[in-house]
Amino acid sequence: MKVELTVNGKEISADVEDRLLLVHFLRDVADLTATNIGCETTSCGACTVLLDGESVKSCTVLAAQADGGSVTTLEGLAADGQMHAVQEAFHQEHGLQCGFCTPGMVMAIVSLLKENPSPTEAEVRTGLEGNICRCTGYHNIVRAALAAAEAGK
Ligand code: FES
Ligand code: FES
Repeated sequence: MKVELTVNGKEISADVEDRLLLVHFLRDVADLTATNIGCETTSCGACTVLLDGESVKSCTVLAAQADGGSVTTLEGLAADGQMHAVQEAFHQEHGLQCGFCTPGMVMAIVSLLKENPSPTEAEVRTGLEGNICRCTGYHNIVRAALAAAEAGK
């Protein structure tokens, strides 16, 4: 079937199999490989992107379900050569180790801060429950989220 998506502001259309997952559309059709595949079972959050402004795990959404929608991936966050505040905070607070979970963490935090611009530490931890870091670097990830919230005030 034909699927048309706006990805990071660019329209992309393709004939795809009905069963193609959004994460595979992003990686294999749109050629945007920042969105990682960890579990493919909605458990790890490595594939988190924004679909029409809401964070979704792109391994649980069919490309066909997203047809006509607007997707933002990690590649779409920086603007005018400037990192997004959450990316900057990850850099400042050393919020990554191997970096595999990082794109999903960053997108989940962007979504979290949109809903709650001044979260408590507990709210950040709760908000990130769907995202797993195998390096167990949660402490600095949470610090990065709080730093980004502070920078946004
Ligand atoms: Fe989607 Fe793990 S790859 S949640
Ligand atoms: Fe390695 Fe999170 S930094 S999985």
